[in-house]
Amino acid sequence: MEASQLYEKLKSIKLGGSTQRFVMEMCEERLPVINRIEALKKEKNAIVLAHNYVSPYIFYGAADHTGDSYGLAKVAQKSDAEIIVFSAVRFMAETAKLVNPTKTVLDPNFNGGCSLADGITGEDVRRLRKEYPDHTFVCYINTTAEVKAHCDVCVTSSNVNSILERIENDKIYFLPDKLMGQNAINFLRNKGVEKQIEVFNGTCYVHEEYRPESIDLVRQNFPNAEILAHPECKPGVADKADYVGSTTGMLDRVRESDKSDFFLLTECGLTDVLQSEFPDKRFVGTCTQCQYMKSNSLEDIAQVLENPRPDQIVELDPEILKNASHCVNQMFHYAQATPGGK
Ligand code: 13P
Ligand code: SF4
Repeated sequence: MEASQLYEKLKSIKLGGSTQRFVMEMCEERLPVINRIEALKKEKNAIVLAHNYVSPYIFYGAADHTGDSYGLAKVAQKSDAEIIVFSAVRFMAETAKLVNPTKTVLDPNFNGGCSLADGITGEDVRRLRKEYPDHTFVCYINTTAEVKAHCDVCVTSSNVNSILERIENDKIYFLPDKLMGQNAINFLRNKGVEKQIEVFNGTCYVHEEYRPESIDLVRQNFPNAEILAHPECKPGVADKADYVGSTTGMLDRVRESDKSDFFLLTECGLTDVLQSEFPDKRFVGTCTQCQYMKSNSLEDIAQVLENPRPDQIVELDPEILKNASHCVNQMFHYAQATPGGK
């Protein structure tokens, strides 16, 4: 890669406000590590998958595939590379191992937590299953493999509503995101689908901070702006948004929209991508950073490819792997059965 190619991708991204931009020197400085990653990927038959929230240097300089958690899980499932480096957070790297267990999956992020995945254990689910023996247990993909191993079906932000609707049982326990669960209950109720859905008490610390009042303010100041929210936001926020969907869903929506102003209620990384992809569109308002996603670096990707530490190699207990893989495969089964499913 040339520094000028990287600069072309980064030049429209606003850094921490409207006045700061990436400059050519910054791209030149990052080039040696980007080229080292490129050479290591070839030498080791490796690919790098990066979530929509990671730094633009990784997104445009190192990733072979980018996307939301569902899209990246599909890429990991189909990959014939020997090594999959997952630049995101730990539960996504674990999911890659679940869908393609014979591959080596490497997690370069030293701080790859997630307030949702860290808020519930396998033991919690075991206890809840005793309390709700007639319920189908549905987990958000933002959970550890151990938690998935105790659940029946996994969902992501791109298919939660359609899968909850299709599950044959009317009694469902949804975990761990209570806000996503409440949004799904409201969505189904508006469609006339009444199910008995219990929800766990987890939240995403980034998305739970958004308030409905900020949408009112944006509507006053930017009456033509289209407002997009992630389903991890509060129901009061989701109800007022024009579109609610996954990170890739929001990206597609901006691509297809004829509006020129947008307000996004999600992590800043997606706004960076949108500013790069759609330099003629305007993204109003501020965004919030996820400390876990932002702990990814080019240096750690190079290091993990060169010589991974044991804690960076995703290994799962065989029983957990078997049961959690089944849970994720059930998601693919229901998603494929959905009309227009991906
Ligand atoms: P997506 O699957 O929509 O990319 O969401 C993942 C996530 O962690 C959102 O906070
Ligand atoms: Fe987890 Fe929230 Fe970060 Fe997504 S943004 S990885 S849900 S803490």
